[in-house]
Parts: sequence; structure tokens; C-alpha cells
Amino acid sequence: MKHIGKSLLIGLCSLMGLNSCSASTNRNEETKKNTDIEMNTSVNPSKTALNNDLKKLVVFFSHIGENYNVGYIEKGNTHIIADMIADATGADLFEIVPEKDYPDNYNECIEVAKQELHQNKRPAIKGDVKIEDYDVVFIGYPNWWGNPPMCVYTFIEKHDWNGKTVIPFITHEGSGMGGTDRKIAAACQGANTLTGKGLAVQGKVAQENQEMAKKNVERWLTGLNMINKKD
Ligand SMILES: Cc1cc2nc3c(=O)[nH]c(=O)nc-3n(C[C@H](O)[C@H](O)[C@H](O)COP(=O)(O)O)c2cc1C
Repeated sequence: MKHIGKSLLIGLCSLMGLNSCSASTNRNEETKKNTDIEMNTSVNPSKTALNNDLKKLVVFFSHIGENYNVGYIEKGNTHIIADMIADATGADLFEIVPEKDYPDNYNECIEVAKQELHQNKRPAIKGDVKIEDYDVVFIGYPNWWGNPPMCVYTFIEKHDWNGKTVIPFITHEGSGMGGTDRKIAAACQGANTLTGKGLAVQGKVAQENQEMAKKNVERWLTGLNMINKKD
């Protein structure tokens, strides 16, 4: 597998706003810390009492091609986690696909993403799903410049979120959830967004250690009382 070079590592460190990124062990510890923080927010099921019979949907955006820390990938990191959530909860799946693909090339992709963010763009997307038919909507995306990709907002703003329970999840390479759940909550007006209770998984773990990723996903869903009961 082709791996992204050191210059891209430096580039990502600066885009993530990390003050220092001198050693990979620091990065790993930081990542672990971020993941643990997100994981430790698992919900007391008795408090949330979310019903397993609710209709659930997993909506996600994920990018394939060259990516940081994982080389060229055929299936995006967030897509892998989205599949695991759908499998464990019995949810339907919907992928947000932009009309215009993001570049395969990592450096080009981060530039396009930066411009879209700075210009607060709403890139057109293909297809749609009737979220009106669902009670619980998991929304998943990669951390792009500390934000959800702008096409996620395109999707959100097409819909009425009143009465929905929204559960964010993210993949990242060190920034964790990074407050993006609060941005999702602000965008999904009228929804009960489980801010602070979302899941953050390092992209490299999703891509290369799926056993560990699956354990994290299932532990998180168990805490939310969201695992589909299998009779
Ligand atoms: C445009 C772009 C911006 C990114 N910005 C960040 C960032 O700010 N913080 C971070 O931790 N990772 C960042 N990453 C890494 C991705 O969040 C990470 O690789 C993620 O798992 C990709 O998920 P995907 O394969 O589903 O697209 C960025 C990646 C790209 C392509």
C-alpha cells in the first residue's frame, strides 16, 4: 500500500492546528486520548431509554482515494464505521455522494475542502432519502479541517429534523470529534442531537484494525441502548 510522505504529515499537523507534532508516539497518545474522551461519554442506558424498535438510518459521507496515514483506499474510513453501525443496529444506510467528486489526490482534496469551508459552500449532492420515515439518524463524516465536509450540510439543510434523534460519529487522524457534533446539532434544528455522546474513531484504526474498531462501535452502541436485539 502506498503511504503518504512526511511532507503530508506536516501539512496535516498544521491543518489540524496541532502545536507540536514532533513524534508519532505523541500523535498516537493524543489520538488515544481523543478516542478515550469520546468513548468515555457512553450513555447510561437507563437515562436515555432509547427504544430498540425505533426506525434507524445511518447517513454518512466518506472519501475514497489517497488519504492521510492510510495510503490509497478503496473504501473510506467513515464508510467502514457506517457499515458496522448499520450492521449492529439494523439501520438502513444512505451515502452522501457529491455530484462533483472530490479529488483522489490528497493534497488537491485538502485544498478543495479548505476552499469549500472558507466559502461556506453547499456542494450539490446526488439522490436523497426520506428521513421523515426514521426516528433515529446516525450522521457520520470525516473530520475535515476540524469540520464536517460541507456536503454534509447540503444534506442536512434539505430536511426537517423536528422530533428526530441525531447521533453523530466521525473518523479523524488526531482531532477527534473536535466539537463538530455541536455544529451538527446547530444544523439539525429541532432534533435531539446527542452532543457529547458521539463516536470518534481514528481513520487508520477503521481501515487497518477493524476488530478493534468494531469493538469500539459495539461498546458505544451498547451504551446508547442501540444494538438491535437478535431473537
Ligand atoms: C480534506 C481533509 C482534511 C482533513 N482534516 C483533518 C483534520 O482537521 N483533523 C484530523 O484529525 N484529520 C483530518 N483529516 C483526516 C481524515 O479526517 C481521516 O483520514 C478520516 O478518517 C477520513 O475519512 P474517510 O476515509 O471516510 O473520508 C483530513 C483529511 C482530508 C482529506
